[in-house]
Amino acid sequence: MLSLLVLAGVFASAAAKPCVGFDANWGLYVFGRDHDVSLGPVGGWSANPVGTSTLTRTGRPPFDGPNTQCFFSQYQNSLYVLNADTTQPSNIHIFSFDAQAWSTQKVSADGTDPNSLLAILDRNTNVFFALSNSQLYSLDMASLTQSDGGTRGWQFVQAPAFAQNNAYPKPVMALAENHIHFLNVGKPATADIFVIHFSYMQPEQQVFAPIEDGGAGAPSTTGHTASIFKGVDAVQTKFAFVPDDGAATWVFDVISNTTQTLKGPTDKSTLMIAASQREIVQMTTSGDVYWMPYNPEDAQANYGANWSRIALNLTTPTPATGNSSSQPSSGPTSSGAATTTTTGAPSGSRLSAVLHSGVAALGLSLTGLWILF
Ligand SMILES: *[C@@H]1O[C@H](CO)[C@@H](O)[C@H](O)[C@H]1NC(C)=O
Ligand SMILES: *[C@@H]1O[C@H](CO)[C@@H](O)[C@H](O)[C@H]1NC(C)=O
Ligand SMILES: *[C@@H]1O[C@H](CO)[C@@H](O)[C@H](O)[C@H]1NC(C)=O
Ligand SMILES: *[C@@H]1O[C@H](CO)[C@@H](O)[C@H](O)[C@H]1NC(C)=O
Repeated sequence: MLSLLVLAGVFASAAAKPCVGFDANWGLYVFGRDHDVSLGPVGGWSANPVGTSTLTRTGRPPFDGPNTQCFFSQYQNSLYVLNADTTQPSNIHIFSFDAQAWSTQKVSADGTDPNSLLAILDRNTNVFFALSNSQLYSLDMASLTQSDGGTRGWQFVQAPAFAQNNAYPKPVMALAENHIHFLNVGKPATADIFVIHFSYMQPEQQVFAPIEDGGAGAPSTTGHTASIFKGVDAVQTKFAFVPDDGAATWVFDVISNTTQTLKGPTDKSTLMIAASQREIVQMTTSGDVYWMPYNPEDAQANYGANWSRIALNLTTPTPATGNSSSQPSSGPTSSGAATTTTTGAPSGSRLSAVLHSGVAALGLSLTGLWILF
């Protein structure tokens, strides 16, 4: 029994948690398998195997953390990776899609537990929020596309009332319209909401009614979320939610406060999901990548959308002990803690910075800087 526990611990700590992520031109990347690759935009994903180009290993984290979470910083055209190196669990690794280079931002944990916190990144302010041991913290990433050489720290924001007394042990967070949506709060089709600009936890819960006649709405359970992006000039207003049983994919619209129920992933073992403007992408616990088209202008079309596997020609990293028939699970308590999201809305105080970097990002998207094939 003891050796089993020890072995389980070794697997948990050696469990690589790869990521999928998009750049500002909606090119797809897979990080954290035997090497990191760029797949380019959706047009190339059905090739077998899919065409890829290999990214640099210089400065790359080992992706061996138990709580790795990846976030796309749209204005910075960068990927921020949390907890990807067990030797520096609170530091954040930054991959600049423009520079195609890694750097490591020193981050002081300051009360958070990097091995279990759940984070989201606000798109416009580029500020992380994290729930750690039922306390809400924030971390300002300024306009970082690479490390600034200093040390940033998490700051205590508040102890949300609904999360106290261990009432919210398995958080699921999503972000749209500058609001953090806390799912899995005990009632289906319901979210607790934190309004970022006013640092205000709404006392009343928000109901998200299904658009389908007689639909049940999204279940109150653990799972994974991803904001559905728009162009650089617009804040995201929708996010996708895939519960751990993969029964369906729910798309939440935070303007109409409704959900649409779409097909659940083919492979139910979700490690994380990510979304562009028109694609929802899933990484499974075995490192496979699937995607489903999403049409933001035509809800009806989305009912017919199917998940497809991307034929990656990559081997999965072997755990430090054991072999491929004993795949590590996705983390300590798995799913809930690995939920991932990105999004945001304009922040008055940082609007000029946002506009400035927005213009830079727009210029970038026009030049269509692709490194692939
Ligand atoms: C949707 O929910 C938000 C947050 O509770 C609320 O501010 C907004 O008024 C709601 N919108 C509609 C159309 O009911
Ligand atoms: C999705 O799959 C179903 C069942 O295989 C098929 O009938 C349908 O045409 C597919 N949808 C699209 C958009 O390909
Ligand atoms: C798949 O990857 C292996 C190892 O990198 C390579 O030798 C092989 O040619 C690739 N297969 C295809 C069909 O590209
Ligand atoms: C992997 O581990 C399983 C269970 O211990 C064992 O039965 C199997 O032979 C191993 N496979 C390899 C390739 O080592």
